[in-house]
Amino acid sequence: MKTESFLQKTNFLAGHQPEELLAQYGSPLYVYNEQIFRDRCHDMQSLVDYERFTANYSIKANSNINLLAIAREEGMYADAMSPGEILFLEQAGYSPEQIFFVPNNVSREELQFAIDHNVLTSLDSISQLDLFGQLNPGGRVAIRINPGVGAGHHEKVVTGGKKTKFGISMDQMDQVQTTLKRYQLHLVGVNQHIGSLFMEPQPYLEAARHFLSLAEQFSELELVDFGGGFGIPYHKLEGQERLDLQTLKHELTALIRGFVAKYKRPVLFKSEPGRYVVAESGVLLGTVHAVKQNDASTFVGTDLGFNVLARPMMYDSWHDIEVFHQGELQATDGPLKTVSVVGNICESGDIIAKHRELPPIVEGDVLAVLDAGAYGYAMSSTYNNRLRPAEILIQKDGQTRLIRRREVFEDLFRTFEF
Ligand code: LLP
Repeated sequence: MKTESFLQKTNFLAGHQPEELLAQYGSPLYVYNEQIFRDRCHDMQSLVDYERFTANYSIKANSNINLLAIAREEGMYADAMSPGEILFLEQAGYSPEQIFFVPNNVSREELQFAIDHNVLTSLDSISQLDLFGQLNPGGRVAIRINPGVGAGHHEKVVTGGKKTKFGISMDQMDQVQTTLKRYQLHLVGVNQHIGSLFMEPQPYLEAARHFLSLAEQFSELELVDFGGGFGIPYHKLEGQERLDLQTLKHELTALIRGFVAKYKRPVLFKSEPGRYVVAESGVLLGTVHAVKQNDASTFVGTDLGFNVLARPMMYDSWHDIEVFHQGELQATDGPLKTVSVVGNICESGDIIAKHRELPPIVEGDVLAVLDAGAYGYAMSSTYNNRLRPAEILIQKDGQTRLIRRREVFEDLFRTFEF
C-alpha cells in the first residue's frame, strides 16, 4: 500500500535529522511544529463567522507554557480544569477575562483560588454551586449543563448523557434557580461538552442546537460555550478524511445568528477545543533498542513506553508510525512486516502499536509516532522511575528551540523528605 508520509508532506522536521535531534535532546523526544500549531489555532478561531466568538484552548491536552503563549498570540482564550492550569495560563500571559474555569468536584480552597484570581467559574453540580454561593455571594457564575447526549472515541471520554459524572441535568434546573436566588448569584454563562473526538459535524451541531434552546430560559447570559471534542484523523496515512469544518462553520454560524436575533443581549460564544489544536503539531520520536521474535510475534522494543504516551494503553488508541533507518524515512510501498511496537515498561500491556504493518525495522532505527501532541506529554508519568522527555519546538524559521528540558534523576528525588 502506498501512503504519503505526513512528515514529508508537511516538512514537519524542517530538514532536521531525527537521529541528530535525539542525540541533542535525548530519546524519547516530543517535537512540535510551530506553523502547524498556529494553523490549527487559526482553524478553530475561524470556526464561526460571527464577531463575538472565540475558541478556548482546552489546555489539558497540552499545557506547555510556550505553546500556551503561542495560542494566546493567535487570539485564543483558554479553559482551565484546575488551579495549576490557571497558574500556567497566567504565566503564559492570559488575563483573567480570557480564562474560563470549568472544574469538576473541586474543594472550597480551589474555588476560592479562582475567585481570588478573578476567573469566571462554571459549576457542574448543585453541591458545587452551593459551595460557590457560600464563598462568593452576589457573584457571577456559570453552570455546566449535561446536554443528555454524548459522543466520543471511547466510553472513557464521553462526557454527556446519563452515564457520566459531568454536568447538571435539565431536571435539576429548579434547584439551580433556588441556589442562585439563595446566594443572589448572577448566572452569566452556560457551557457543555459532549465528549472527545467526533469526526462528523452532526452530533456537535445537534447538541449546540439543543443547548441554545435551553439557554434561552436564562435572562442574564454573557457567555455560551458549546464545548470541544473536535476530532483529528489519526488514520491519516490511510487517507482518513478530516473533520468537515466548513459544514460546522456554516451551520453553527446560522444557529448562533438565529439565537442572537431572539436573545438581544451581547453574548460571547465559545468552543473548547484541545486535541484539534495541538495533536497534529506534535510528533513523538523514540529509539528502537531491541527486535525479538516470540513464537509467531515480532516485537519491536523501544523507549516509547506508556509512561511517555499513555493513549494506546488507555484507550486502545491508534497512532500512525513512520520509520527512519540511518536518517532515511522508510517507504511504505516496499515489503512490510507485521510487528508489535512495545515500550520499556514492566507491563505486558505496554504496547504502542499492536500487529502493525511497518517497513522492516532494526535496532538503532528511529520511530516517529504521529499526532502525539494532544494528551501525550500531558498524560505522561514517571512510572518505573523513568524520566519525562524534553519538548522542542521547530520554529517557523526552521530553527529548533527547547521548550521544556528533559527531566534528570534529581527531579525524581525532588519531593522526598528523608
Ligand atoms: N472541555 C471539556 C469540559 C473537556 O472535558 C474536554 C476534554 C475538552 C474541553 C477538550 O476536549 P478535546 O477537544 O481535546 O477533545 N485523554 C483523552 C481525552 C480526554 C478529554 C477530556 N476532556 C484522549 O487522549 O483521547
